[in-house]
Formats: sequence, structure tokens, C-alpha cells
Amino acid sequence: MNLYFDNAATSYPKPEEVHAAVQRYGLECGASAGRGAYRQARQAGDIIAIARARLARLFNAPDPERVIFTLNCTDALNLAIKGLVRPGGHVVYTAMEHNSVLRPLRKLVEAGAITTTRVPADHEGRIDPRNVILAMRPETCLVAVVHASNVSGTLQPVEEIAPECRRRGIPLLLDAAQSAGHVPIDVTAMGVDLLAAPGHKGLLGPLGTGVLIVRPGLELDTLREGGTGSRSEEDRQPDFWPDRHEAGSHNLPGISGLSAGVDWLLSRGVAALRRREEELMRLVLSELPHLPGVSLYGPTDVARRVGVFSFRIEGMDPLELGRRLDDDFGVKVRSGLHCAPAAHRALGTFPDGTVRASLGHFHEEADVAALLSAVERLTTVCRAGC
Ligand SMILES: Cc1ncc(COP(=O)(O)O)c(C=O)c1O
Repeated sequence: MNLYFDNAATSYPKPEEVHAAVQRYGLECGASAGRGAYRQARQAGDIIAIARARLARLFNAPDPERVIFTLNCTDALNLAIKGLVRPGGHVVYTAMEHNSVLRPLRKLVEAGAITTTRVPADHEGRIDPRNVILAMRPETCLVAVVHASNVSGTLQPVEEIAPECRRRGIPLLLDAAQSAGHVPIDVTAMGVDLLAAPGHKGLLGPLGTGVLIVRPGLELDTLREGGTGSRSEEDRQPDFWPDRHEAGSHNLPGISGLSAGVDWLLSRGVAALRRREEELMRLVLSELPHLPGVSLYGPTDVARRVGVFSFRIEGMDPLELGRRLDDDFGVKVRSGLHCAPAAHRALGTFPDGTVRASLGHFHEEADVAALLSAVERLTTVCRAGC
């Protein structure tokens, strides 16, 4: 039984192929890429090139050289935001953003570099695209939108925002932390200029991996500079991609595993995985919101959400609820504010937060049934005086 329901934090379990790829790299290669002409160094370069090509294919990005490996999604978002904004610029973002967008923006605002406009969300965590468009100004240099909320699972209407960004020449940054690998994403068709994703959640790679995919023609300032193994005679950072944004030795064990995770997704198809997740979501939605004393936050229509469910039981603190789900039933969930305080304000669950159960690619009906039965048992305990 798989009672790990914290896939929104990082996915578990990962496919066997991911562990095998990490091990194979360590045992059979072990070298750093782009820093030697010997066989293993070239092999390491090939591992990275294959991973880039697979990621470009998964998201239909036209140029694999514009797939930048990062430490995680936070690092990708920092590179996108700080690489793009210029003094005097204005950024539009939403109330559903994670701290990995809120905090870099806050820092830039406090430094007097930029101004921002926060677009509100409704009680289900949904943004009205008209409000995003109304917030755009002549000096707007970035629109940042979280594709799926890590609190309520709400999907945002990116398709309705992107054309207006394109018309005005404003880059659109999509935080795909909760959608990459779970929802089909075609950056070209959707008109996404920058896509930030963790490698370690829905893409099934190891922790310590992430990607930023950038539309050809869009230039970014660097977040850090250093050795790239290229143009080593110059003390200036190379201006070509991907080297420009990948200073220092790569996380090759991580990238090897991520590449295997993406291959696993490509072979199954994200659309098919999404249909499967929709079935499990329907199971959750048919019961969880109807349990006595349970409040579920976020859409009840599967088309408008991903498998991230935030809920509370009346009379029980979310921290206590999370602890009891594990102690009494072995169910692993995440309690609190999930690094998204503004989202909790929008949903009316600030400051205590919620308990969050998030689905993974390996869950079965029986796992979801066990989660629902554990919550039901705790509602009974609560009604008897918790
Ligand atoms: C919506 C969202 N954005 C960004 C992040 C940051 O991802 P990472 O942990 O890979 O830095 C998360 C992580 O939970 C997230 O849910």
C-alpha cells in the first residue's frame, strides 16, 4: 500500500528506472561534463544532451539548448525573475503564487528596483484572466502565474492570459511546479515564454533537480557566473546557451535520474497519466467534501484542478490532523501554509492552513480509499470530542 500523499512536496516512489540511471551514472561514468576529452567526460556530456532533448520533447520546446538545469524550481524561478526584470519594471503576479515567486519579487520591491501588482483569486483559488490583463501596464516586464496551486490544486486559465502577453510583448512565466508531468504542457502552443519546473516532483527525478525552459530570442541576465568548460580563455561568462546559465559542475547523478523520469513519462504519455489521475481525483471528490465536518478547498470539477487536495476537519488543528493521520493510519500528508500564505488568505484558511494530500503517479484506488477511510475515522473521533 502506498500511503505517501506528499507528492506536491516531492514525488515518492520514483520509477525503478530513475534509481537505475543514478546508479549507472555513478558506477559506469562518474565524470563531469564538458571538462575533458576522455570517454567518460564525453559520456557525461551525452547524458546531459539526452536529458535536454527529452525535456524539450515533453514540453514541445523548440530548442533543447534553452533547457537550463537548475537546483530546483525555486532556483529556476529566481533565474527567470531576476534574469528578466530591469530597474523601473513592473511585474504582475497572482495571489496563488508560492514563496519562491513572492519572496524574490518582494526583495526586488524592497530594493526599489521594481513595482508589482498582485491579482486576487476567488474562494476556489481561481484567477480571473481579465484582472491579469487589467493589471498590465506599459512598463510591465513580466507576468508570473502558477499553473496549478500547491494548496488547492486549482489550474489557472493560462490559455486566456498568454495571447494578451504575446500581443503586448510581455514575457509570461509559468510556475509548473505542480503541473509538470501531471498535465500536458505545450509551451509553444500555450505561448509560455518561460517555464519553471522542479525535476523532483511530477517529472520523477531526484531531489536537487529543476529546469527553466526559455523561448528562443528571450535574453536573461545571469544569476551566477563561473566555469563552464567553454571559452575558458575569457574571464567573461559565455553569451551562448545553455553555458551562459549553467556555471559550475552539473548535478549529473540528478540529471541522469531526471532524464530517466522524463523518459518514463514520455513512454506512458502525460495525457494518459492525466486521465488516470482524473479517475483518482473523482474518487476523492465523491467522498472527501461530503464527510461530516470536512471542508475541502479548491474546485470540485476535475477539469479545473490537479490532484492536490487541501482540507480541514472542524475542531481539529491541521497540524494535529496531519500528525494523527500518520501516527494512527500511516498516511503521510503535509500540514500548514505550504509556503503559499497569500493563497491561504484567498481561500480563507490563513493563518492555521490546511492539511494537504497530493496524488502521485503510482497511487491506486485502494490507496485513495485508505486515505478517505482514515479521514472518515478521524471525523468520527472529532465528533465524539477530539
Ligand atoms: C507552486 C510551487 N512553486 C514552486 C515550488 C518550489 O519548488 P522546489 O521545492 O523545487 O524549489 C513549489 C514547491 O513546493 C511549488 O509547489
